[in-house]
Amino acid sequence: MKITLGVTGGIAAYKAAELLRALQAKALDVQVVMTEGAQRFVQPLTFAALSGHRVITSLWNEGTADGPAMEHIELAQRTDALLVAPASADTLARFAAGRADDFLSTLYLATAAPVVLAPAMNVRMWEHAATQSNVALLEEHGATAIAPEAGALACGMYGSGRLADTQVVVETVLSVLDRREDLAGETVLLSAGGTREAVDPVRFLGNRSSGKMGYALAEAASRRGARVILVSAPTALRAPGGCEMVPVTTAGEMRAALLDHLPQASVVIMAAAVSDYRPRLVAEQKLRRAGPLTLELEPTEDILSELVRHRAPGMLVVGFAAETEDALASGRAKLLRKGADAIVLNDVSREGVGFDSDRNAATFLTPTTATELPEMSKRVLADRILTEVRQLRRPQTMLSESGAGAGLGQGR
Ligand code: CTP
Repeated sequence: MKITLGVTGGIAAYKAAELLRALQAKALDVQVVMTEGAQRFVQPLTFAALSGHRVITSLWNEGTADGPAMEHIELAQRTDALLVAPASADTLARFAAGRADDFLSTLYLATAAPVVLAPAMNVRMWEHAATQSNVALLEEHGATAIAPEAGALACGMYGSGRLADTQVVVETVLSVLDRREDLAGETVLLSAGGTREAVDPVRFLGNRSSGKMGYALAEAASRRGARVILVSAPTALRAPGGCEMVPVTTAGEMRAALLDHLPQASVVIMAAAVSDYRPRLVAEQKLRRAGPLTLELEPTEDILSELVRHRAPGMLVVGFAAETEDALASGRAKLLRKGADAIVLNDVSREGVGFDSDRNAATFLTPTTATELPEMSKRVLADRILTEVRQLRRPQTMLSESGAGAGLGQGR
């Protein structure tokens, strides 16, 4: 497998040589790209000698014997992953801004391969709000960032900023490579967003779901090779690329759409916040203000339980649970009551995570296990959840290699 190692300007550039060796020890063919800053710290010759390839140092090799004019596009298509180590504050900023003024930034924009960033810099630079928001944005865009380690820094300060340990970087690259296409052959049926129940022609009963978690799951599953059918209640989000969108509004429409697509699915994930009640009667005309008003509500169907009842053998069904008190016990009880294979438990009483936030923390609950997924961006959490879901397949795959979704859990 081929990976591209981007080396950027920082004293930790010398550590990239050891990293290159460690990647080669895992049978990875490494092409090195150096920024101008990196070349002030280490000579390209070092990496050329170690990697056995010419080191790419510039966008502008056209017309020379050095390389093709469209080398960045060619490499973008050929590489299986892009690792940037060390990633300087400037590189993070330029990636986040979508700049394309040197080979590495152009390659970053042009590649569809997974991207791993291993930042290293002075502690103040790392902790600065600008750097932190650039890293968060790059994670939003799908990159995996490896936090630098704390320790004595070359600048004489002490704190977070050292390039992560070589083994940690190598393991991250291997796990990112492992995830590529690991859901190929799966059809993931996902629900997202918050359903709305009409009260009158201009009002509805809704909830605070933004749909971000469900959309992040759709995007991640699609990136990992699954066919994704996304049944979405209204959100303010752009439709994720590569997914089949089925727009719905009410709980009733969501139920119908999910049951309709269920026979095609091998994995079902109910990330939607479904209204539990709807007005028994919808007023035909706009309700006027006239003293106290009582709405009579009737319960909607429990879609998740219904999907569990109608599922085909081998199909995985995963729900979400938003709890405000005694989260673990309530989540476990809900899991058993609904008969799903797992529940992603959100404690929505915690601040800064959950509804409408870009971040979330959860517990992945199965009838026998509880895996803590600590606070992280919803993009990263989506990948963690899918990896947990993929693990659920393992015991069943051993029993039966056939049937819906046999691809899950078998690796690439
Ligand atoms: N869900 C569903 N149909 C409903 C309500 C919820 O399919 N009418 C699904 C949600 O999509 C979620 C799971 O059930 O995957 C749990 O949702 P939650 O709102 O936490 O639970 P409720 O079923 O509403 O139970 P309770 O009101 O007791 O918390």
